[in-house]
Amino acid sequence: MSRLTRFLVGLLWGAPFAMAAAGFPEPSELPVQTALPDPLQFFSGAPVRTVGEWERRRRPELKALFQHYMYGPLPVKPARVVFKTVSEHADFLDGAGTLRIVRVECGAPDSVIDLMVVTPNGVEGKVPVFLAMNFCGNHAVHADPRIPLTRGWLYNSCAGCRENHATEAARGGQAVDWPIREILSRGYAFATFCSTDIDSDRADVSDGVRGSEAILRGEIPQGADRGTIAAWAWGFHRCVDYLVTDRRIDGRRIAAVGHSRNGKTALLAGAMDERIALVIPHQAGCGGTAPSRGTVGESVERINRAFPHWFGGRFKSFSREPSRLPFDQHSLVALMAPRPVLLSNAMEDQWANPAGQFEALKAAEPVYRLMNAGTVGSETVPVLGMLLKGRLGYYIRPGKHSMTASDWRVFMEYADAHLRR
Ligand code: GCU
Repeated sequence: MSRLTRFLVGLLWGAPFAMAAAGFPEPSELPVQTALPDPLQFFSGAPVRTVGEWERRRRPELKALFQHYMYGPLPVKPARVVFKTVSEHADFLDGAGTLRIVRVECGAPDSVIDLMVVTPNGVEGKVPVFLAMNFCGNHAVHADPRIPLTRGWLYNSCAGCRENHATEAARGGQAVDWPIREILSRGYAFATFCSTDIDSDRADVSDGVRGSEAILRGEIPQGADRGTIAAWAWGFHRCVDYLVTDRRIDGRRIAAVGHSRNGKTALLAGAMDERIALVIPHQAGCGGTAPSRGTVGESVERINRAFPHWFGGRFKSFSREPSRLPFDQHSLVALMAPRPVLLSNAMEDQWANPAGQFEALKAAEPVYRLMNAGTVGSETVPVLGMLLKGRLGYYIRPGKHSMTASDWRVFMEYADAHLRR
């Protein structure tokens, strides 16, 4: 079908109909667009004029496009997700919080995400929560021996890990970067799970919940085209399934957080699931918050070569020609509208293209404007250390690629602006 015919069909019947009728074209058939594609234009070329059109047609179309050409499909939600509180300790952190370990069983009893949930003690009413995906294990964020060691495959660079598996020596290996006590004292709950429970971060094999037949139903490829980021994002959603049932937590105030590859995942999770109220993709960069058309830092070609399993098969077709993508990452940011999203960066982390991320944020503005949700509030990248607190938030600090306790202070300041009552 020619572009003109698609445009006409789109006008008459709406873009979803056109898509379903025509299917999406092969990557090589897509037109080259050097500028960031307009988020308020349907795939057919027709303009998106109203909030209703955005909500009912363009948002679903973008979700479908991102899955089709980039991330691969998110796994389906299992018919039964079961939550089992396996332990509860009200004396965590000298009594500052209650620690709970919740097994989130996704279909089969051995398809389990271990969710660590900490709620502040002595606080009346339901509290907002930070939900973060970690990649070295729950046991690494705090040394308390009651937190089970993560079972799955880990990087050997995770402190205390041997032959890619957690050991007792790994406990609390990253505690300094996860200021849980402070998070509780600011009136937030904290929840975390390890990416490896869902899918290992290696190209050759998937060994978490993601590998389970019950979840996959044979629908999703294994190996290097399996779309691990989409699976991890699905993991966020299963943890949200639990959090909205927790009587101490306000299910309408869930903030998703992740660093780097986990930040790419947090953004995708928020874009795909409106139960997530706020997202902080920290230093997420290429494949997350930085434009695929960017020329600074990591390229699509490079990320596909180094981490092929993160994306679906079709994304590899864009390695040499990212300008054929019918969207760019500003549209993933725009899928958050009107909810708050903070792109947080570090000056020495040029690999993640902080300036390109600012451009992506600006390019998401038309959608936020359409929804009366404000603008970035600046035409240029703010000075180091200054937080832009609008719903399209931005922050850049001096220093390197890392997520530290002082970054968490910025996350809390941002969340205070949007989630406090
Ligand atoms: C690599 C990769 C990035 C990723 C980062 C991380 O640097 O190239 O895309 O964000 O790892 O997850 O730490």
